[in-house]
Amino acid sequence: MKNLLPDKVAIINGGATGMGRSTALLFAGEGCSCVIADINEAEGKKTAAEATKNGKECLFFKCDITDLTQIRDCVAETVKKFGKVDILVGSAGGSVVKRRGGASAGAVAKPRRGIQYIEEEYYDLMMALNLKGHVFFCKEVAPHMIARKYGKIVLISSQGVYNPPGPATEYHAAKAGILGLAFNLAYELAPHHINVNAILPGPVKTPFWDPVLSMVPEDKRDAALEKLGQSTPLGRIGRAEDIANTALFLSSELSSFITGQAINVGGGIPLSRYEEGGFAGIT
Ligand SMILES: NC(=O)c1ccc[n+]([C@@H]2O[C@H](COP(=O)([O-])OP(=O)(O)OC[C@H]3O[C@@H](n4cnc5c(N)ncnc54)[C@H](O)[C@@H]3O)[C@@H](O)[C@H]2O)c1
Repeated sequence: MKNLLPDKVAIINGGATGMGRSTALLFAGEGCSCVIADINEAEGKKTAAEATKNGKECLFFKCDITDLTQIRDCVAETVKKFGKVDILVGSAGGSVVKRRGGASAGAVAKPRRGIQYIEEEYYDLMMALNLKGHVFFCKEVAPHMIARKYGKIVLISSQGVYNPPGPATEYHAAKAGILGLAFNLAYELAPHHINVNAILPGPVKTPFWDPVLSMVPEDKRDAALEKLGQSTPLGRIGRAEDIANTALFLSSELSSFITGQAINVGGGIPLSRYEEGGFAGIT
């Protein structure tokens, strides 16, 4: 512990599992109280308890970021409990989700890959979870940060925006929107001393991959992820801690002169090698 976030208060949406969970565990050990805003109550409560043991009091707040009222309540409760919000980490997201409302409510929405299969309902779900919820979380925290002339916002986008691992147009269109959100908000909030940055993860081993891996025999799942990791220049799958460490840097004073940036954390993606050895192949 280096106390990089002394007496700070963070909201980490999507903090129950994966990168958000790692971020909460790390932040709490650096002096930061965390509110874990997530739909996954069981895992969220576990993460909050574990993070609390690392240092600062952390809480779970049940919050579906596709519901604007729940976002408002989460931010209001955080300010009521801790008196302020210094940091927002936007980690909630995914590409396989439960459908809301209508005849198909509760059913799992899985994409059929390809532009010809795009359906309005799935598109709307992707935008609500991966973009709109984050826009409105920023809207709710911004006034509290502006009032104190201090704030750090870190939003999780995806390397797939630039380097699609396969067709996932609706999801990556929403993740591209996160970049627009980060850059524009960085400009707007800079006069208030609020830093806004985005992280673009490459493939990272988290529950994000569970729906995809459920299609692979159980004994081959680890190998499938390792193989995915080998496609990065550094040749390994990312760890949730790789993203948490970057979120810590961007939320601390170590990065106080950095705003409006998108940081690749993808084992070297988008670098790629020339197939035939580059210069060596022609000389
Ligand atoms: N794992 C990867 O390879 C990868 C790569 C690029 C980007 N991402 C992005 O990273 C972020 C974190 O994902 P992860 O890899 O840690 O996976 P994850 O599934 O472990 O984490 C996502 C979290 O979001 C929560 N969540 C889902 N729907 C929600 C909702 N409606 N409201 C509130 N919370 C909700 C989940 O319960 C979970 O805790 C996501 O935005 C994901 O799209 C992941």
